[in-house]
Amino acid sequence: MKRLEGKTALITGSARGIGRAFAQAYIREGARVAIADINLTRAQETAAELGDHAIAVALDVTKQDSIDLAVSETISAFGQIDILVNNAALFSAAPIVEIDRADYQTLFDINVSGPLFMMQAVSRHMIERGIKGKIINMASQAGRRGEALVAVYCATKAAVISLTQSAGLNLIQHGINVNAIAPGVVDGEHWDGVDAFFAKYENKAPGQKKKEVGESVPYGRMGRADDLTGMAIFLASDDADYIVSQCYNVDGGQWMS
Ligand SMILES: NC(=O)c1ccc[n+]([C@@H]2O[C@H](COP(=O)([O-])OP(=O)(O)OC[C@H]3O[C@@H](n4cnc5c(N)ncnc54)[C@H](O)[C@@H]3O)[C@@H](O)[C@H]2O)c1
Repeated sequence: MKRLEGKTALITGSARGIGRAFAQAYIREGARVAIADINLTRAQETAAELGDHAIAVALDVTKQDSIDLAVSETISAFGQIDILVNNAALFSAAPIVEIDRADYQTLFDINVSGPLFMMQAVSRHMIERGIKGKIINMASQAGRRGEALVAVYCATKAAVISLTQSAGLNLIQHGINVNAIAPGVVDGEHWDGVDAFFAKYENKAPGQKKKEVGESVPYGRMGRADDLTGMAIFLASDDADYIVSQCYNVDGGQWMS
């Protein structure tokens, strides 16, 4: 039996990487998915690759009018939104003495304000229609503890865990479940960017940091986007009805909490 039959999902930042893998997995489970991304061209390519059950939607999670438009476009196309995945995020790294204020603001706008105001827009719709929806926020092992060179990104992901707790407690009265997933290190284009930061600040050869972190994972390798889809399907399904405000580590044994 398909676990998301007849459901509709909006996944932010799903033109590539983990969000794309979630979109593919949700479609396999019977859902229709809005590939909502700031990179519309890439979102359109992804939607075309994923087939009839996917549409591309332009979305900049830092802009309220863009959020409102993406939500209304998805509702127009699919009738309603049952599942929201707040997946779009940006990484940056710098030692404390070099953190740039504009960069700090950009990260908080995308990684924290983005999920918060997406949750607001979509939960208003769910409450209005009486939809017992599911919201999944992408946190990170980076939100579980600080890292010397990653202060701002870590702080944004800690904020995502906290927002998940508060929103979950507030929205469960409407039958809306809010939970989060904390991945460890997941291979893909995102990590190519992370590797470049460490090459710069830790004076490493390109690819060296990625190799080291992969070897340090208890499971024995970096994660792949597909390693996370089981949890993403579960949290979007009726099986997760009694789960409120939790953040699940899916990280090959990196963090225990
Ligand atoms: N890859 C990892 O190792 C890892 C580890 C822990 C957590 N995560 C988290 O998982 C999620 C997905 O990570 P990924 O590796 O697939 O990242 P990614 O960089 O490959 O994909 C992010 C997507 O978000 C989109 N995006 C960026 N800014 C946006 C905006 N303002 N509005 C809408 N879309 C925007 C990008 O165009 C891109 O398609 C993120 O929240 C990330 O922080 C990733």
